[in-house]
Amino acid sequence: MRKVSVKVNGRDFEHEVEPRMLLVHYLREVVNLTGTMVGCNTSNCGACTILLDGESVKSCTMFAVQADGSEIVTVQGIAENGNWHPMQTAFHENHGLQCGYCTPGMIMASISLLKENPDPTEDEIREGLEGNYCRCTGYENIIKSVQQAAGQTS
Ligand code: FES
Ligand code: FES
Repeated sequence: MRKVSVKVNGRDFEHEVEPRMLLVHYLREVVNLTGTMVGCNTSNCGACTILLDGESVKSCTMFAVQADGSEIVTVQGIAENGNWHPMQTAFHENHGLQCGYCTPGMIMASISLLKENPDPTEDEIREGLEGNYCRCTGYENIIKSVQQAAGQTS
């Protein structure tokens, strides 16, 4: 077992974990933040996307112990004082989801995308989200959601 200390959504956690435990499983099963989803476990789908020290990361691509000392934000940590993050509002208002399975990862990847490029073109949005798969929506409303969050539509 190895020790991991992290800050997740503003709270400090310290646990002893198996060195082979993936970060996504640590977040879901040890920290009990089940909003972060597991779609593939093979770094393809993006459902497990979180922010690690401000960068979007697929949390199935690393071990929990590799996150030691890091600050993590998951989809459950982006609302403030009971108010949705603007990206959550935009997905809601534009029907940027159907089954919702990809949505936590899609929202985290979209937040990261706008942080790096606050006024992206449609192509840049599609490119920025190419690591996140959605089986339901055809992506059109996801793109609209990101455009609204970027202030490009009313
Ligand atoms: S579960 Fe991590 S990329 Fe699919
Ligand atoms: S809304 Fe179902 S996978 Fe994206």
